[in-house]
Amino acid sequence: KERQEAASSLSAPVKLPTARSAGCPFDPPAELAELRAQRPLTRMRYPDGHLGWLATGYSAVRAIHADPRFSSRYELLHNPFESGHTGALPPAPVGDLTGLDAPEHTRYRRLLMGKFTVRRMRGLTARVEEITAEQLDAMERRGPTLDLVEAYAQPLPALMICELLGVPSADREVFQRHTATIMTRSATQDEVFAAMTALQETLAALVTAKRAKPTDDLLSDLTTTDLTDEELAGIGVFLLAAGLDTTANMLALGAFALLSHPDQLAALRADPGLAPQAVEELLRYLSIAHTGARSALEDVELEGQLIKKGETVTLSIEAADRDPERFPDPDTLDLHRKVTGHLAFGHGIHQCLGQQLARVEMQVAFPALFTRFPTLRLAVPPEDVPLRDGMNIYGVHRLPVTWGEV
Ligand code: HEM
Repeated sequence: KERQEAASSLSAPVKLPTARSAGCPFDPPAELAELRAQRPLTRMRYPDGHLGWLATGYSAVRAIHADPRFSSRYELLHNPFESGHTGALPPAPVGDLTGLDAPEHTRYRRLLMGKFTVRRMRGLTARVEEITAEQLDAMERRGPTLDLVEAYAQPLPALMICELLGVPSADREVFQRHTATIMTRSATQDEVFAAMTALQETLAALVTAKRAKPTDDLLSDLTTTDLTDEELAGIGVFLLAAGLDTTANMLALGAFALLSHPDQLAALRADPGLAPQAVEELLRYLSIAHTGARSALEDVELEGQLIKKGETVTLSIEAADRDPERFPDPDTLDLHRKVTGHLAFGHGIHQCLGQQLARVEMQVAFPALFTRFPTLRLAVPPEDVPLRDGMNIYGVHRLPVTWGEV
């Protein structure tokens, strides 16, 4: 016990480091690496004053994800980010799995898992290829200079979620318009709120339509379960929120990373079969869902530290995925690395449900983009690409690109 107390009093509590160093937009804040080098768990002072923890070491971050003594319930968590909100967070809205523990979580998870079938994911692969080709055609017609986020990275995951949920083609334009508003930085709070409300209404109407006339899609399948209309619409909104920003930012930031590492891009171009492995390495290297959080339900001893009941632990996925003890030479993007066990999709009972879909989208979309536009390059100096600093999902707001003769 004395050793633990001595260890935790080694230094004053830190604040969550969020500032990335100028020059390398792909590296996590440098302070995270310094903290990780000292110890895997550090005392952290939360913006609302709470004294909790910050986990930066791979083994600690992974262990906490898998440990049922740590809760994901939002109402037990303190926000690691500056938000002006004091105390615990509001509970998860209906249909949001990430803010629930067993057994409430288990019920939703079982119902959903059974619907993310291999057959359905295979069917979606063919659609990913078609939709990717359509987006590339549209880019060719509009180009040669455009914003890759708006033209490619956002539409593909948005359309794939429409496929998954079974949104009819006639509603897709409206659906995409609202999701684009939610993701646009310049949208006002009122605009975002109006778009969210419209999406919730669209999903509620969709649930009614699927109950009346089921089609071959996830939402129709779910209407045969005991989920209520409210739960079904909530799950729809949640899948949209979980699958859109994440995949869109992986596609855009991934393209930026590849354009900034010409040797790695050349390797992928030379061997498109490298795509599955390249995608895993990009997931690890970028770890865009960079920060998670859990609350201790009881006192837990971990890595020589005592985490007390009620304390929030911030899980730095981006620091864990760059831990040299787990990934040699972690700050190098190496598409030939056979990376396994990265935490970019989380770990444990909440591990990403949409990961196979996200993988297929990336495995198709990266090679297709660079094959269709062999001269694709940034249209602005790299330092002018606006970064999503301080946002829950890291990435770029815009990625101006161009192609053709230099
Ligand atoms: C959960 C990342 C794409 C659906 C998660 C978690 C992470 C993550 C880190 C765990 C959250 C936690 O532990 O609290 C990503 C990344 C993606 C991606 C990096 C893209 C590259 C998708 C897609 C979908 C999806 C395309 C659906 C179509 C979900 C769901 C959960 C989840 C439903 C909650 C699972 C649960 O709590 O049991 N994702 N995700 N994700 N993701 Fe993804």
